[in-house]
Amino acid sequence: MKEDKLDLEYIFKRYLPDRFEREKKERISGEIIENIKSKLEKMGVEAEPMLVGSQSRGTELKNSDLDIFIVFSTKYSRKEMEDAGMEIGFEIFPEGTAKYAEHPYVSGIMEGVKVDIVPCFRVEMNRKIISSVDRTPLHTQFMRNAMDDEMRKEAILLKLFMKRQGIYGSELKTSGFSGYVCELIILKFKRFNSFIEYVSNLKGRLIIGDEDRTSKFNSPVVIIDPVDLGRNAAAAVSEGNLSILKTAAKFYNLNPCNFFFTFDEKIDRINRVERGTYMCLIRWKRPDIIDDILYPQLELSERNLKTLCETSGFHYINGYVNLDGENMEILIEMESGHLNRIEKREGPPVENQNSISFIRKYLDSDRRSRGPYVENGRVYFDLFRDETYFKDIFFKNIQKINFGHNINRLKGEIIFEDRLEKIRETRIYEMFLNFQRPVLPSGEYLNKN
Ligand code: UTP
Ligand code: MN
Repeated sequence: MKEDKLDLEYIFKRYLPDRFEREKKERISGEIIENIKSKLEKMGVEAEPMLVGSQSRGTELKNSDLDIFIVFSTKYSRKEMEDAGMEIGFEIFPEGTAKYAEHPYVSGIMEGVKVDIVPCFRVEMNRKIISSVDRTPLHTQFMRNAMDDEMRKEAILLKLFMKRQGIYGSELKTSGFSGYVCELIILKFKRFNSFIEYVSNLKGRLIIGDEDRTSKFNSPVVIIDPVDLGRNAAAAVSEGNLSILKTAAKFYNLNPCNFFFTFDEKIDRINRVERGTYMCLIRWKRPDIIDDILYPQLELSERNLKTLCETSGFHYINGYVNLDGENMEILIEMESGHLNRIEKREGPPVENQNSISFIRKYLDSDRRSRGPYVENGRVYFDLFRDETYFKDIFFKNIQKINFGHNINRLKGEIIFEDRLEKIRETRIYEMFLNFQRPVLPSGEYLNKN
């Protein structure tokens, strides 16, 4: 396949479900919906199953999931709705797993297709919702009428483009653009190309919607949700991801090609030349807690480790976080894992009254190697450090480091590795070297324009 050409037919053929998959999914969702209907009838519950998500709007990609909601009358309490929803979910998927968004739902697999069965309440457009999933059936209702086939194709291109850049998905781990947001963007710009053109020249925030509605939000991306005009549908998108999109769009305009839509190729241009840096890998066995709770804590941990490095005198270069089915990991890269014995400690300006107590503090200290002395109007001492090796400093401070609520409990179970020959064998090291955002074609592509 020629990555440097643009061949939309090829892209669609490769990433849209084929007839076999389409028919299978139609059959499966039809069966599940009938099944739920008869269960609801038997239970005498006033609720209705409904296919939602990309599948219901014709914007699904190959191997996408099926989202089936059970829409309950608001005469039920939240608990009644959840209990009945979970009961039906587990009747359909006895082997399924309970998952948690704002409230619980059941996820299962049928003939290789992942299916979520989510209970929610019936609400009208622009009425107060009870749980955020209550909007989802409205999204389907709205989008089905608002988009034509042409726009669906454009939305699919945008989803692929976002996926390729690693910025597709609104979960906290990604903080990117959801499928629904991609559709709303196409609703506004009509064409993928028009949006890319726009965003490649965009300065500042991406804002779609009437000013009087958008002005109350200060997120990097604001896109008013047509089914709930008081909500920013793109609240999840981080500033970094908007920047990635802007840059990728610029490069796409220089050279529109398949590269920007195809994402499962091996990127094998890792530069394996030794970086000559110090790396340490901090790892835990993953507890049984969902991504959206663990991931922000891992990011917090990474930031706090950076602070520890810097306040201890190390030169922090990069950090990288990985969360998968088995492990939680933080990889940290520094210029060196060892500090000099001597620390040059800066004191207050000489004219400042505090300079006296600063001098008093270190004048008779065992840690004093040299000083006090004055430079540019300030007092200094050269002090001996107690610890000079990062590993020692890390474990000495471990009780003080905030890893977040759940991870703090696992301080005793940290696996610490800083031998490069071991780190080199890990997947996170590969991922770290591989990491690139935006993801751009290199080599000959770049010289085309
Ligand atoms: P999905 O994550 O399955 O998205 O959420 P999707 O639109 O079906 O896209 P893909 O093709 O599977 O990736 C199902 C529905 O939940 C609502 C949307 O209505 C979406 O279609 N949703 C999901 C949101 O409103 N916001 C979100 O952040 C996520
Ligand atoms: Mn979906």
